[in-house]
Amino acid sequence: MIITIDGPAGSGKSATAEQLAQRLHVPHLDTGAMYRAVALKALQDGISAENPDQQRIGQLAIAIDLSFDWNTHPAKVLLDKRDVSSDIRKPEVTAIVYIAADNKVVRSELVRQQRQIAAQAGSLVTEGRDQGTLVFPDADFKFYLDADIKERARRRLAELTRKGIATDPQALLADMQARDQRDKSRGVGALLLAQDAIVLDTTAMTLPQVVDAMVKIIGSKSNG
Ligand code: DC
Repeated sequence: MIITIDGPAGSGKSATAEQLAQRLHVPHLDTGAMYRAVALKALQDGISAENPDQQRIGQLAIAIDLSFDWNTHPAKVLLDKRDVSSDIRKPEVTAIVYIAADNKVVRSELVRQQRQIAAQAGSLVTEGRDQGTLVFPDADFKFYLDADIKERARRRLAELTRKGIATDPQALLADMQARDQRDKSRGVGALLLAQDAIVLDTTAMTLPQVVDAMVKIIGSKSNG
């Protein structure tokens, strides 16, 4: 069974996908982490906003040694066998991840890897921007999470504060607006609402409420 969760930054995808996967006893694939890992590798290779070497970043994605440790929850992200789960969330990676996400070679390579992971796992909860539309159009269940942008920015601020990363709330909101715009207008793999996706607006919902709603939908459709 493949379950996809797409939606904008801060809509609660990662936490929801993680908990849903645990409830269903299947792995959780965070595809944003894959784009972040390519961006981290690119940073280490000298690629920056000023030097967005498109050809090089494509080569890096094809050659990358990227894997997940499914024995931990959330799964650890391993780059060159090293745990980079925290490093890929750093602001300097977030700032250039669009270079990886906008690159067609990077996208086709990561989509290939995502399908391979799904084929090996059999069942999977996978989250990102293009999972229900482009990567797994035949998924058994497709969810699209959304929330008011101010609420999404508030959640992201709380998450960064928890991690001890000082953040200006106004700059965060502006950054989130810019990311929404980029995610929705990307030539390939844009954030789109799949025709057959179930939309959940999480603005006023708690995490357990969102997960419960999904479990209920999956249970009722699976049994009937
Ligand atoms: O979900 P996130 O913030 O960790 O994602 C990081 C970036 O990767 C984000 O800018 C959008 C992009 N992304 C994408 O283009 N396609 C995906 N399937 C997942 C993430």
